Order: sequence, then C-alpha cells, then structure tokens
Amino acid sequence: MRIPFIAGNWKMNMTCQSGIKLVEAISEGMGDTDVEVAVCCPATLLHSIHDALKHTDIKLGAQNMHWEDSGAFTGEISADMLKEAGVSYVILGHSERRQIFGETDDQIHMKLKKAFQKLLTPILCIGETLEEREAERMNEVLETQLQKNTETVTPEEAAKMVVAYEPIWAIGTGKTATPDQAAEAIGLIRKWLSSKYGDTISEQIRILYGGSVKPENTTEIMESEDIDGALVGGASLKAEDFIGIINF
Ligand code: PGA
Repeated sequence: MRIPFIAGNWKMNMTCQSGIKLVEAISEGMGDTDVEVAVCCPATLLHSIHDALKHTDIKLGAQNMHWEDSGAFTGEISADMLKEAGVSYVILGHSERRQIFGETDDQIHMKLKKAFQKLLTPILCIGETLEEREAERMNEVLETQLQKNTETVTPEEAAKMVVAYEPIWAIGTGKTATPDQAAEAIGLIRKWLSSKYGDTISEQIRILYGGSVKPENTTEIMESEDIDGALVGGASLKAEDFIGIINF
C-alpha cells in the first residue's frame, strides 16, 4: 500500500519568518491525516523550518543538491549539509533546474545515486514540454529521462524513490493536465518502472503529479489509482490552499 504524499515546493520564495508562520499555520490547520506531507524550502531556511516542524508530522525537503560530497563547487550544497539540517526529501531534476540552469540527465543521475547513498529520499521530476507533447513525443521523452536518470539505480534504491510527473506546460501556468492526461503519463511511468525493476518494486514507488495543483482539482487528480499524490508549487505558499490540497 502506497501512502499518499503531498509535497510543497516553495521554489525561491519565503523568508525564515514567513516560512515559520506558514508551516505553523499548515500544521495547525491540517488536522489528523493519513497523507504524508513535506515542505521543500530554500536552503537558507532549512534549519529554521526544521525547528518549526519538530513537533509536527510534516517532513522537511530540499530543492536541489550536488552529487559530490564536498569540494570546490561554489554555490552548491551537499547531501551531508542537507542531512545536518534535518532534511528527509530532496527534489532532483526539477524542470526549472533542467531548463533554466542546464542540468543534464547525467548530472541528475549522479545526484540520485548520492541521495540514495546518504539515505535521502529523492523526488525525481520528469516531464515533457508542450512542443514535445504536440509532436506526440511524450512517451519517448519520459522514457529517456527515466532511463538516463535511473541508469545505475538498483531495485532496492528504486523502491524508495518518489517520481513526480510534471508536464512543463502545466507548471505555474494555471493549466493543469486533465485527470486523464495525468493518469495516462503516470501509468506509462509505472509501466516503464515495472519493465526495469519488476512489478513488486514498481508497485512500491510513489508517483506524484505536479503542475498547477490547487484545492479545486486535487480530488479529481487523486482519483486515478496510479497517482499517489502531488508536488505543489504556487498553492503550497498559502496555508489555506495547501491544507485544502492535503485534505482533498
Ligand atoms: P506549480 O508548480 O504548482 O506552481 O505549477 C509545481 C512545481 O513546479 O513543482
């Protein structure tokens, strides 16, 4: 049985003060839930948010990390640094990292391996652009990302990861994939995972949908058997919206 998972991706938003207020409001408002919840905040907020989350069930996530343990990598953050800050999850390969910062599939693969080695749970993001979808290349694009990003990932490691299907045309645009579109892509992802790792492992991997998730569309999205939760950007910055999504 896969436990539903709702993760907020704050991106480059919030300060320590506003972030603490937000998580306090979320933990107060969400009540008892069977859904696992995480907030992925900017690196400088991690320690403060970790403290603020101490007496809650909300987990802490980061938005990126480097694949090396340490060294001359100005501006980068290592897995050990994230561990020290109390991080459980790390988003890897977000489309903004891929598109704006030129992250490659090979780099994402190395990051994934490092996360497993350091016992951090990666949330691997994959997704197609509008042009790729319109050219009917979605399957090929998702399969290539999966194949390259998980190249040397073992079945034991794969069982622990979270995959987020985030069609790039739906991120921050207000355009959500229809439940059928999300279910089709996520079904395809699970099928691919099962062909590489077998049914037992693929049935354990949680696959989230991301892209303009709001309280109003969460129930519909979560109806599909293959969709285990959501990676939420914009709507994770408002307590009321995020709580609405958690309590879909
Ligand atoms: P959005 O972002 O919910 O604002 O579309 C999702 C994401 O980028 O993870």
